[in-house]
Amino acid sequence: MPTDGPDPQTPGCAAEQVDTGRPHPARMYDYYLGGTHYCAIDAETAEEVLRRAPHVLDSTRGARAWMHRAVRHLAAAYGVRQFLDLGAGLPVAPNLHQVAQEVHPACRVLYVDNDPLVGASASALLGSGPAGQVVYRHGDLRRPATVISEARAAGLFDWGRPIALVLSGVLHFVPDEDDPAGLLRAYCDALPDDSYLALSHGTGDFSPTTADGAAVYAERKVAAPMVLRSHAEVVRLFDGTALLEPGVVRLPEWHPELGSTPHPEETLGYDPDQVHSYGGVARIRPPHTTESGGS
Ligand SMILES: C[S@@+](CC[C@H](N)C(=O)[O-])C[C@H]1O[C@@H](n2cnc3c(N)ncnc32)[C@H](O)[C@@H]1O
Repeated sequence: MPTDGPDPQTPGCAAEQVDTGRPHPARMYDYYLGGTHYCAIDAETAEEVLRRAPHVLDSTRGARAWMHRAVRHLAAAYGVRQFLDLGAGLPVAPNLHQVAQEVHPACRVLYVDNDPLVGASASALLGSGPAGQVVYRHGDLRRPATVISEARAAGLFDWGRPIALVLSGVLHFVPDEDDPAGLLRAYCDALPDDSYLALSHGTGDFSPTTADGAAVYAERKVAAPMVLRSHAEVVRLFDGTALLEPGVVRLPEWHPELGSTPHPEETLGYDPDQVHSYGGVARIRPPHTTESGGS
């Protein structure tokens, strides 16, 4: 559990556009990961979540480790060199581009987030190796047309080649009324053929205390409420894609063999039985679809 805490006056928190009177999911997540970008109100709220649902710490770390494995697998086994990361989060090394560029230095990454502090901290994200390229754009994933048009305008990607769309731990901040499945369809339709979708999502399937923790987001008016979804609901988010093995599973069960890297954050450690999130990786319009949706 993060103990040596934050100076609430961190430069990011002082940034004018950052709302320090209201907890934000990106900053709470940073607190769980032992980062340095959160403000006092985020730490207090995160501690309240952990009092009610102590496993959230393991879930957060397990989710970040899953994102690393998914990116590494896409780059190494499927040759993906372009990543669109929606809900990028605050920088905590290793970030997505560092994992991808370890596999191939030419990997390009476009990060998008709607939290102003993520934008203010983006310079830490943008330190790409010389062969690759990394860009950050402020944006709300609930506006796919705008996000895609800004992604195209950024001139980073070759839109004739596969792009991996990564939504790691973010769709549980999108309520049903915003139609997360419809949003995913819009992104998938806009991506080149044979692109990929990597998605992880919090669930209440394993313990009622997860819902107690999620309730704090509403009670404390966190900038985005948290919506837990069941296994069947997460599988449905992949409708129209071709899930890769092993389908939608609890995150520690997704290719655990890919996890051994020397990154300090991955050695923070977590109990796999306490990771209450699902995830999966799928192909979008592969040339010859042989795998089917669902798990
Ligand atoms: C739990 S963090 C996940 C960070 C990172 N993807 C990871 O896996 O470590 C969720 C992030 O999604 C962002 N977010 C939430 N709703 C969003 C939206 N509608 N559009 C863009 N970003 C959003 C938050 O600001 C936060 O940075």
